[in-house]
Amino acid sequence: MRPARSTAAIGCLVAGAIAALYLWSGQGRSERPLMPNATVMELLSRADAGNGARLFRQCAACHNISKGAPDRNGPNLYGVLGAPVASSSPRFGYTHALRSAGGRWDAERMNAWLEDPQRVIPGNRMFFPGVTDPWERADLIAYLGTQGSTLLPSPADRGAQGR
Ligand code: HEC
Repeated sequence: MRPARSTAAIGCLVAGAIAALYLWSGQGRSERPLMPNATVMELLSRADAGNGARLFRQCAACHNISKGAPDRNGPNLYGVLGAPVASSSPRFGYTHALRSAGGRWDAERMNAWLEDPQRVIPGNRMFFPGVTDPWERADLIAYLGTQGSTLLPSPADRGAQGR
């Protein structure tokens, strides 16, 4: 009797400790250090695309991102990372500001855009206040990278780079 009960008690303790550890580790961005001088690529190497998918809910009010899905208030964003600006959805009526901006959506530019779209391309029609947390922007970019884009290496490729 007694040994069985104490085994159960130890089991509970272990389960509790594991749960606490799980909650404590890497669950929230708040656990990640502030790295004011880090480049976007440095943040991206430790970004969490799964969290980016959750954060994308704030974008989903205006953007679809699955292949072939219709535009909303904003263009479908499938494959946008790495693509030329104003091209992710050819049928979308982009503003002149966006169409004449030129260049591509590399990670640095996307990072600046997500922080403050009106500063990066003045006069565009994406009325969105911007994402202030650099880790959240990195997570969002990592998520965009998983949606039809080949710009970012997948985590598996990154692991294989040393071989
Ligand atoms: C209130 C609606 C709205 C929200 C919310 C919004 N966007 Fe947009 N977005 C737009 C519109 C409208 C455009 C097109 C702007 C133009 O043509 O001037 C756009 C354009 C873009 C583009 C450029 C697409 C291209 O083909 O060049 C990207 C990238 C983008 N949004 C990403 C995001 C992300 C990521 C989020 C969430 C963090 C977000 N947007 C939130 C409305 C929105």
